This record gives sequence, structure tokens and C-alpha cells, in this order.
Amino acid sequence: MASGKKLFTRKQVEESKEQGTNLFILHDKVYDVGPFLNEHPGGEEVLSEQRNKDGSEAFDDVGHSEDAKELMQKYEIGEIVEAERLNIKPKKVEWIASKSGQSQKSAEEGSGLPYGLIAVAVVVLLIAYNLGLFSSSAQ
Ligand code: HEM
Repeated sequence: MASGKKLFTRKQVEESKEQGTNLFILHDKVYDVGPFLNEHPGGEEVLSEQRNKDGSEAFDDVGHSEDAKELMQKYEIGEIVEAERLNIKPKKVEWIASKSGQSQKSAEEGSGLPYGLIAVAVVVLLIAYNLGLFSSSAQ
């Protein structure tokens, strides 16, 4: 048997369910997760729900680790035929977005700091000015 990557139509993946396969379409690639089903750290059920379907969105929503992405290469058996590929990039964006969200937050906090410093500086200057007035009026 040829061990090279096969090409599948979405219909083929869907229909092979009747032959008891455990295929997944994740980002235009086809995975056979049969042996992995009950080893999946996220549970067998979530995988079964997506069986022989395109689980890309569900997969991305979980935010699988790099380890998980490495592991899944082991189960890759082929690709979706070119005409049916969605070419949607994995949603790593969420992480970047939340990171930039955080940096935005810290930037806001950062910009709050000078106001505090300015307030303290003004108070110190006022006290110094008052002290100065006192000393000049005393002489
Ligand atoms: C070949 C395909 C897959 C592999 C190799 C895989 C692997 C893993 C691994 C290693 C984890 C542990 C956490 C991590 O390292 O990210 C995990 C968690 C999980 N996975 Fe998958 N997974 C696959 C497909 C899917 C799909 C299609 C779904 C969507 C229904 C899914 C849903 C989950 C959930 C819900 C968790 C639990 C996350 C948590 O506890 O925070 N996985 N998966």
C-alpha cells in the first residue's frame, strides 16, 4: 500500500464514517485519529462529536498547544482536494490579540503613572514655594 498523502473530497471524509473511520478535517488536512480517540487529553467525546467533519473551528477555539499540533502530525493521512480547500489560517490571532490587549492595558496603566508623578511634583513644589514665602517674609 502506498503510504503517501492522499487527497480527499469533503464528501469522501463525511461518507467514510459509515465504514467506521475516525477522520477529521482540520485546516484542509485529513487526520485519522482512530487510535488516539480515547487517549485525547480533551476527552473522547469532544472528538467523537466532530468525527468525519471539519473540526477546525472547534480545534482552534480550544487553543491547542504546540505539543498538540506536533502530536497531530502523527495522525495526518492526507489533504482535502485543492478545489475544496478553505485556506483559512489557524486562529493563532486570539493569542496575539489577547497579548496585545494586555499590552494595551499596561500601556494605559503606564500612562496613568506620569499623572501621579505630576500631582506629587506639584504638591512638592507648592510646599517648597510656601516654605520659600515663609522664609522670605520672616526676614
Ligand atoms: C488530531 C487531532 C487532535 C490532537 C492531536 C489533539 C491533542 C490535544 C492535546 C495534546 C490536548 C491537551 C492540551 C494541549 O496540549 O493543548 C488536547 C486538549 C483538548 N482538545 Fe484536542 N486534539 C485534537 C483534536 C481536537 C478536536 C478536533 C477538538 C474539538 C472538538 C479538540 C478538543 C479538545 C479539548 C476540548 C481539549 C481540552 C482543553 C483543556 O482542557 O483546556 N481536540 N487536545
